[in-house]
Amino acid sequence: MGSALSASPDAVAKECAYCHGKAGASTDPEVPIIGGYSTEFLVNNITTYRDHERACPDTKYRSGPKKGKTTNMCQVAHSLTDSDIRQLAVYFSKKKFVRAKQQVDAVLAAKGREVHEYYCEKCHSEGASEANDDAGMMAGQWMPYLRQAFDEFATGKRPIPKKMKLKFDQLSPEDMNALVHYYGSIH
Ligand code: HEC
Ligand code: HEC
Repeated sequence: MGSALSASPDAVAKECAYCHGKAGASTDPEVPIIGGYSTEFLVNNITTYRDHERACPDTKYRSGPKKGKTTNMCQVAHSLTDSDIRQLAVYFSKKKFVRAKQQVDAVLAAKGREVHEYYCEKCHSEGASEANDDAGMMAGQWMPYLRQAFDEFATGKRPIPKKMKLKFDQLSPEDMNALVHYYGSIH
């Protein structure tokens, strides 16, 4: 994959689209929306997959010639060079973050908003919708993916920024559930 990219980021981005959808606007609740994240965040996370510093659970190609075949994000990023990764990151950062439309519990979402404002808004500003925070984007992200991310941070399968850990460790399971409903309610 790496060598193909040096020729054309579009060609490799097509491979990403088999799971992340057109322009990173995933329509599959298990696959995160990645279009519109900041370049910095994307470079960091694709690199941590390539270097096996972040968990990469098995998943399957959703479409394309390898549809149904098992792989994971570490394998996908395996042969990418630093320059490939930057090009891909720039490509996806220029796309629009298309928020998912999801069913939420309004009472939980309201509680989640309070939890967010108290613990998370400082770094995930504007209700976690500001790409330039370089902290990902939770507003309108798929709820099943957010649950997975919380679980990976809580169990140490994904590196967690030190100052985020101080806040994150104070959350109860109920707080986390409410947060997922809050972020899912933003669209
Ligand atoms: C076979 C399906 C598949 C393919 C192909 C794929 N991804 Fe993924 N990607 C996933 C899944 C599922 C996750 C979430 C689970 C995980 O962490 O492994 C993910 C997670 C990510 C994340 C983390 C997002 C976040 O919010 O932290 C990034 C960034 C990403 N992929 C970029 C890419 C890029 C760039 C490509 C193409 C080079 C690509 N992916 C190809 C399935 C895929
Ligand atoms: C001191 C700053 C800081 C605080 C406070 C903070 N975070 Fe983060 N958060 C970050 C940074 C930086 C990242 C990006 C880390 C990375 O690249 O994996 C991040 C990433 C995340 C992600 C992954 C997003 C994605 O798309 O994969 C989730 C989920 C998250 N934070 C949840 C929370 C929650 C919930 C709170 C409040 C309890 C919180 N964070 C508080 C800095 C912070």
